[in-house]
Amino acid sequence: MTFSPLAPFARLAILSTAFVVLCYSALAASPPWLTANDDKIKAIVEKMTLAEKVGQMTQPDSGSVKDLDDITTLALGSMLSGGSSDPESGNKLSDWADFYTERQKRALKSRLGIPLIYGVDAVHGHNNLLGAVVFPHNIGLGCTRNPQLVEEIARITAREVRASGIQWTFAPSVAVPRDIRWGRAYEGFSEDPAVVALLGPAVVRGLQGTDLSGKESVAACAKHFIGDGGTEFKPGGGEGMLDQGDVRVDEATLRAIHLGAYPDAIKAGVATIMPSYSSWNGVKCSGNKQLLTDILKNELGFEGFLISDYNAIDQLVSPETDESAPESNNAAGQVRSADYKKCIEISINAGMDMVMLTDRYKEFITMLQELVEEGKVPMARIDDAVTRILRVKFAMGMMEADPDLWPNKELQPEFGSEAHRKVARQAVAESVVLLKNDNALLPVRKLPRRVHVAGSGADDLGMQCGGWTIGWQGDRGDLTPGGTTILDALKAVAGNTTEVNFTADGSKCEGADLGIVVVGEGPYAEMKGDRYDLALSPEDTAAVAALKAAGLPVVVVVLSGRPMILGDVADQADAILAAWLPGTEGAGVVDVLTGAAPATGKLSFAWPRSMDQVPLGHQRETIENPLYPLGFGLGYE
Ligand code: BGC
Repeated sequence: MTFSPLAPFARLAILSTAFVVLCYSALAASPPWLTANDDKIKAIVEKMTLAEKVGQMTQPDSGSVKDLDDITTLALGSMLSGGSSDPESGNKLSDWADFYTERQKRALKSRLGIPLIYGVDAVHGHNNLLGAVVFPHNIGLGCTRNPQLVEEIARITAREVRASGIQWTFAPSVAVPRDIRWGRAYEGFSEDPAVVALLGPAVVRGLQGTDLSGKESVAACAKHFIGDGGTEFKPGGGEGMLDQGDVRVDEATLRAIHLGAYPDAIKAGVATIMPSYSSWNGVKCSGNKQLLTDILKNELGFEGFLISDYNAIDQLVSPETDESAPESNNAAGQVRSADYKKCIEISINAGMDMVMLTDRYKEFITMLQELVEEGKVPMARIDDAVTRILRVKFAMGMMEADPDLWPNKELQPEFGSEAHRKVARQAVAESVVLLKNDNALLPVRKLPRRVHVAGSGADDLGMQCGGWTIGWQGDRGDLTPGGTTILDALKAVAGNTTEVNFTADGSKCEGADLGIVVVGEGPYAEMKGDRYDLALSPEDTAAVAALKAAGLPVVVVVLSGRPMILGDVADQADAILAAWLPGTEGAGVVDVLTGAAPATGKLSFAWPRSMDQVPLGHQRETIENPLYPLGFGLGYE
């Protein structure tokens, strides 16, 4: 077995990151361009009524705003489209551009005419829109260890987002997932804080450009502060058994592992940060003043604004699930507190600047004004929040812009273009990790006469893309136009000298010269993706066994949001490729199979043999005696 040169690096990672974070946190501060307009902002804030200030701090999901006049009369500062909150007219680029422009025009009709900053989860491309290029999820990008490539991907994402008008994405996730049973493990670049610190700021640079004011730039949002990837398993298991849980570690450990990318993201000028749903030693981050004000704003010098997670502040005091709450994009839309006013008080006083919410937005606006009038939330705190929000709007050049020009029409022809797909294909190839290659089976430079393809993921674009694609939880099948499944890509390189046959279960493979089985997990996102057992499905395992029984050399490709327990497949396969959630460009996987691209990916997570080795545990640098260690990845001779 060849170990990559990253293995010793990985061993030192936590210690060195702790050191780096300590040094950097002293130096971190938002760049001066973020505060450059503070004089102008002061003059505006002086003119604003309390209602107008609170309006700026309010961000409802567009699905909850039934009367668009509310945007004008309440002088809303922001809106979002959560995971499945699409325009009613449809889900194409033109639908989004019109939808966005209509809302923006309403904002400009308010007394002060301050535009909305509109947010979406463009977390691997402009992934909610039909026809957008879908890039690999972060877990795959972590295996590239390539900040230039990651920056370029973020730049392309920003261009596709601005083509629709939108100026803000809730990305990057800079979580440091420590338990791969978590359904958001794939949103993190790595279990290693050093890899997250390498790539997270690259996304910020790519999305925001050099100073945010460009017409191709999009405000970034580092999320979820802090420790979202370090929650403990909740006894009893079930849906959401790790998601939004509690991180039970001391402060030194919290900083050493989970502060990761934040200092450098702040230095890169990240415009916004999203506090986490999760708790640290029993206290919810969304209401923790030490974390939000003392550490982020005072110690690290963050000058942008904090946006709460989706209805997260409802969880601060006696949260309950209300099934009768209006449907929203996300299960958190149904979490309600009976003492909402107290939730608002705790959160705003802790340092939250803008609140993401659903149908409670009018209640929020009324209650926050009352809290100020009752002296429970200081006006200075409100002014600070509004100043921070306006800083971002000024830095983006939004205060002078004409809303008709905001969907950047010059960028529309390149939306989902071949040029963008080419970069995605390269990213896929660089993220693939070659785990096993007996008898140098790969690369298959010339496909043999007959290739048999099998497995649940071989011809499933939705499975390649995973969650946060078109819908919140993603979907199976051809969910978006454009893109190539692994089977399509194999057929494209086969030409007429090779016959490529496909049966999902591996039947009728007899007589083929090579077997390729694409196994893995179906799509999922937050909460629903928490799983206790990461074994491959019996169907996928049986497909590998069927090809093996027929005497074929077998290549197994794993499509998954985390390492999976391979069981017998680890022995049966002659070659194994981890392809993660590559997105729409399946051809990048085939490039590595055929040697059109080299095998360079290195694991961003250790790969366990069995569930006994999960979770990693905070104190351990990585699991002992894994099937493949962190940093592992074979190459071609
Ligand atoms: C997620 C965030 C996301 C937000 C908006 C939440 O449920 O935790 O990551 O940005 O929804 O869709």
